[in-house]
Parts: sequence; structure tokens; C-alpha cells
Amino acid sequence: MTTTKTPAVLITGASSGIGLALAEHYLAQGIQVIACGRNREALQGIRGATPLDFDITDSAQVQTTATDLKQLLFDNHWQLQQVILNAGSCEYIDDALHFDSALFARVINTNVVAMGYCLEHFLPLLSSGAQLGLMSSSATYLPFPRAEAYGASKAAISYLGRSLRVDLAEHDIGVSVICPGFVKTPLTDKNDFAMPMQITAQQAAVAIFKGMQRQRNEIHFPGKFTWLLKLASLLPESLLVSLLAKKNN
Ligand SMILES: NC(=O)c1ccc[n+]([C@@H]2O[C@H](COP(=O)([O-])OP(=O)(O)OC[C@H]3O[C@@H](n4cnc5c(N)ncnc54)[C@H](OP(=O)(O)O)[C@@H]3O)[C@@H](O)[C@H]2O)c1
Repeated sequence: MTTTKTPAVLITGASSGIGLALAEHYLAQGIQVIACGRNREALQGIRGATPLDFDITDSAQVQTTATDLKQLLFDNHWQLQQVILNAGSCEYIDDALHFDSALFARVINTNVVAMGYCLEHFLPLLSSGAQLGLMSSSATYLPFPRAEAYGASKAAISYLGRSLRVDLAEHDIGVSVICPGFVKTPLTDKNDFAMPMQITAQQAAVAIFKGMQRQRNEIHFPGKFTWLLKLASLLPESLLVSLLAKKNN
């Protein structure tokens, strides 16, 4: 006897911003959503989603969550078709000459090392045909000022995604590296600089959903902004430095 399982998506960082908009968009399409974050109250407020609260930087918590998740999938006859590792944080290096290594470690730990914990414990729950989404950023296309920590963490994620794609191909698991431009969320609300072509979290969610359904290798948006950055990245490095560097007078 064959049983048809119900497709489900797991989204980290679903308590706020892009992750929250993504959770709501998937739910609106009739897809089961397992919404993850630390803020239990916010997760419980997502009507129709199954909340799982844990800290991605705590390997033991991720492991316990994966055990609970395995049972949840089994009990409900759900099949994890997509996992979107979206949770992340952003902090800027304000004074490169007095490099803040504690800040650097914090950002790398939350954005990169914790993604490793999620991959270790959630990947075995994916079956053939599944799609994994890793949240990088269009910041990786150019060396932006003050982005030494954030940009490096996202560049690591982009490479991680490309390399994983090669190794997971034989298991028929696709990997999408997600590179948004500026999206209005609590994370960017803290920025003190101009954010050209900023879009809403709902617009970002639609773009990510479409890209994940089409199993795109790279999901980047809004197109005008990201293509501009990609084109600019072809400029000679010395010209880029003079365009992007802070002027002293
Ligand atoms: N907004 C943009 O313009 C933009 C552009 C490019 C890429 N991104 C990336 O998109 C992702 C989402 O960002 P956002 O703008 O939507 O920011 P946000 O509103 O601040 O959301 C960040 C999410 O990450 C979760 N998170 C952070 N640390 C966590 C931890 N230790 N354990 C578990 N969950 C944690 C937060 O959940 P809790 O607080 O509940 O833990 C929250 O749900 C990030 O990876 C960000 O780098 C954003």
C-alpha cells in the first residue's frame, strides 16, 4: 500500500521579517509550515504553522529539535520537501583599524557555524527531490564598507551552498542560494544608510517561494538592483575601492 504524504517546509528565522513573510506565503499556498525561531510567542502567532522554538547557535538544542521534528513528520505523515535556513543576524564593523573580533565571531557563529548545526541535524530528514534554501545576501557581490563580518558570513554561505549542491546532486537534493537586495525588516530598520530599491518582506517571500519551487540555484532579487551589483562586480578592484571607500575630505 502506498501512502501519499503531505508536503511540508521548515523555515528558520520565521518569527520576524523575511522568514515570517515566507511562512505566511507558504501557508497561503496550502503548504504545511514548520516555523522556527527563539521567540516562541511570535511563532505561536503564525496561524496554521507548527512552531519549533530553539536557538540555532546551540548544537544540542538543534539536535533535540531534529529528534522532535522526525517524530512530528512521522505522526502527521508529512514529507519535508523544503528547508529554508534563513535565520541570521547583522552587525557592522564601525572601525576597521580597531577590528572587533568578538563582533566578528558573533556574526560568523550565528550565520555560518549555526547553519552547520542545522545542516547536520536536518539534512538527514530530507528525501530525494527535496530543495534546500540557504539565506545569503547580494552583499556578497561587492566589498561593502563596514560589512567585513556580515559580508564574510554571507560569502561563506554562498560557497557552502555551491559546494553542497555538488555533493547533494547524487541524492537528488537541490540547493538554492538566496541573495536578496534590501528588504524592509527589523534587521534593516537599524541601518543608518540609504537602501536603494528596498522591497517589502512580502515581495521577498514571493520571489523566494517562486525560486524554491523552480529549484533555482541562485535566487536573487530585486532584479534591477542585483544585476547592477553583479555588473559592478566586473569592474577592476582598484576602481571599486575608490568608488566604495569612505572619503576623508
Ligand atoms: N533584510 C534584508 O535586507 C536582508 C537582505 C539580505 C539577506 N538577509 C538575510 O535574511 C535573513 C532574515 O533577515 P531579516 O531581515 O528577516 O531579519 P530579522 O527580521 O531580524 O529576522 C531574523 C530572524 O533570525 C532569527 N534568529 C536570529 N538569531 C537566531 C538564533 N540564534 N537562533 C534562532 N533564530 C535566530 C530571528 O528569530 P528569533 O529572534 O525568534 O530568534 C528572526 O526570526 C538573515 O539571514 C539576513 O541576513 C536580509
